[in-house]
Amino acid sequence: MKKKISKTNLYPKWQETANRWQVFPAPLRPTLNECQIYKEMIEKVLKGKKKPKILLLGATPEIRDMLFTQTILRGARIYLLDISPVMIKAMSEILGFKNPKEKPVIGNWLNMSFKDKTFDVVLGDVVLENVPRERKEDFLKEIKRVLKDEGYFISRFQFVTPDLKNFKIEKSLKKYSRFYLQGKINFKQLVMFVESDLWRSSYYKGDGASSLASYEKDLRHFRNSTKNPLYKLVIDKLLDYFKFVLKNKWYLFEKNKLDKFLRKHFSVRSIKYPNDHYFAKVCPIYLLKKIYFLDNKILSFKIKDDGIR
Ligand SMILES: C[S@@+](CC[C@H](N)C(=O)[O-])C[C@H]1O[C@@H](n2cnc3c(N)ncnc32)[C@H](O)[C@@H]1O
Repeated sequence: MKKKISKTNLYPKWQETANRWQVFPAPLRPTLNECQIYKEMIEKVLKGKKKPKILLLGATPEIRDMLFTQTILRGARIYLLDISPVMIKAMSEILGFKNPKEKPVIGNWLNMSFKDKTFDVVLGDVVLENVPRERKEDFLKEIKRVLKDEGYFISRFQFVTPDLKNFKIEKSLKKYSRFYLQGKINFKQLVMFVESDLWRSSYYKGDGASSLASYEKDLRHFRNSTKNPLYKLVIDKLLDYFKFVLKNKWYLFEKNKLDKFLRKHFSVRSIKYPNDHYFAKVCPIYLLKKIYFLDNKILSFKIKDDGIR
């Protein structure tokens, strides 16, 4: 029997994310170089196509701005799919361009209202991580269902690395505070870099879900024991933020597990790492081609390689 998942786990309140979106540093929000990688991948797979249909999972404004060029170049029609009207509205307000060929749809990625084989490309920035472990397979199947047989799924994934098993809050505070004091990052980035370490390392603390809840006690304890005023300030900011996101959960993989899982449904055509942020090594962008079956044979293995590597 399928385990029941609480609605709050699947659809946390995104208002706080929407409020903070424009100050999010990488890896929470796609960078210029990441958008460039997305653009190059899209251009390769859509070459020669007229009026392609693209589905964006989520409402990421940076990606929508990047996709606008596809509407101009080849009349691409863009569909957005997000469960949260709050996010769609908030993200639409910070768009660089309003695309007349963009259609927002409110709905669930796990049960899409689109017909089979509708899209040439499905795109999503760090979306698999939003889906609980026990539904990830359904999620990939649903993406494949709505993709045309020759379709592609392009997505940035974030993975965890075993060194996070030895994670200590004080180590993270010390490392990023040094960057801050050297003037390499600002205070908001300092808070969010520590936050990012907390999210990713919490994977190794509990049931495989990344959640800030497992750190609340540790942070309070450290806040009371440290004499460093900068550390206190960072922790106060984090605890303040925790009020909004404590119930949120992320479900990450280690890289080898991620690859194995993706290869069950897609052929991996390219993996590109960005070059413009601190966490670049743990969030590459994948170009994935749908594997489809006909007469019980896997046809995409017979198809001539299109040279995208
Ligand atoms: C962390 S936020 C933003 C991340 C994503 N990179 C983006 O830019 O949209 C996650 C977004 O995914 C949406 N979302 C999460 N799970 C979903 C699901 N099962 N179906 C539809 N939208 C979902 C949320 O409503 C939210 O807008």
